[in-house]
Amino acid sequence: MRILVAGGAGFIGSNFIRYILGAHDDWSVVNVDKLTYAGNLANLADKAGDPRYVFHRADICDAAEMSRIFAGEKPEAVVNFAAETHVDRSIDDPALFLRTNILGTQVLLDAARKSGVARYLQISTDEVYGSLGATGKFSEESPLKPNSPYAASKTSADLLVRAYGKTFGLPVLVTRCSNNYGPYQFPEKLIPFFVTLLREGKPVPVYGDGMNVRDWIHVEDHSRAVDAVLQRGRPGEIYNVGGGNERTNIEITKLLIAAMGKDEKSMKFVPDRPGHDRRYAIDDEKIRAELGVVPLVPFEEGLRNTVRWYIDNEPWWRAVQTGEYQSFYDRWYVRKDRA
Ligand code: NAD
Ligand code: TYD
Repeated sequence: MRILVAGGAGFIGSNFIRYILGAHDDWSVVNVDKLTYAGNLANLADKAGDPRYVFHRADICDAAEMSRIFAGEKPEAVVNFAAETHVDRSIDDPALFLRTNILGTQVLLDAARKSGVARYLQISTDEVYGSLGATGKFSEESPLKPNSPYAASKTSADLLVRAYGKTFGLPVLVTRCSNNYGPYQFPEKLIPFFVTLLREGKPVPVYGDGMNVRDWIHVEDHSRAVDAVLQRGRPGEIYNVGGGNERTNIEITKLLIAAMGKDEKSMKFVPDRPGHDRRYAIDDEKIRAELGVVPLVPFEEGLRNTVRWYIDNEPWWRAVQTGEYQSFYDRWYVRKDRA
């Protein structure tokens, strides 16, 4: 199978591409990514010369460019990871989130429809369901109650995906996953942000009272789930994906402080994020029962290995901090094209 992965230079997309190329010898991947601040070609440096992998720098909002890529590459399936993803940035600049996450999805859906792909899989998030109190879990039937501009844009995209399935008969699928962690996550998100700050001997900013709860899943478990839905999910269906690891932010922070050999004086409470969702928790019974997908990475082990990865790969996050990573495209692709 030839799949087009949009947003494959980001955290989850790059882990997914590496997973897919390893899991399926006869699959090939077309990675389409704009390389915003969150896109980093170093995430897939080891795949750059792989004959089963091709990269196009392109904006999913650019309809002409998408038609050209679909016509040339003829993908059989599309997996859309491309998005603006950081809640705090969506509070500062909602318009950018609406453009990429909603209009970009619509452009991709049109390109997918016109080229007649066999599957279109939209990577969504548990944040579309809003926030929970102390009990309960989100199922696929839970009402959509997004609270941040990011979550509202992802919800809108999900509804467009549904409409393209109903109106045009496009074979669409949606996955809604909880918070991912693992290697190559941009160091603005909680876990890599705190690990890199602690490494530099700086305090870590915990929002509000730190009692917000997230359900953490290793990115490899997410990749396995996406692979299963892509191959065996029923068109028109939504599948929740969860890690079964609910932790408060304080618990995560203490684990990271201990793993980095620091003391709890490194934890600094700062003003809360506006509209900060209190708790996310996933009911993943549907994907377990229908597709046999269960998370395999034990949380403590996954977190330990992730911390180790950031310690061992300091040049990766230093290149992000200095901005050097944004020159990799010119160095690796443009120069090669001109040669
Ligand atoms: P990320 O921010 O690390 O990566 C996003 C990627 O999309 C980047 O490579 C970026 O360059 C690319 N991109 C952005 N705008 C684009 C555009 N207009 N055209 C083409 N490419 C563009 O994000 P991530 O954490 O890897 O998340 C990937 C997907 O998974 C997103 O759709 C997100 O909503 C969803 N998701 C993330 C999490 C999580 O915990 N990180 C959880 C559930 C769902
Ligand atoms: P984040 O990684 O931004 O993911 P999301 O908002 O999509 O869940 O944040 C995870 C949790 O950590 C969230 O409750 C906000 C909190 N947080 C902090 O307390 N301090 C920080 O500096 C960041 C980035 C997040």
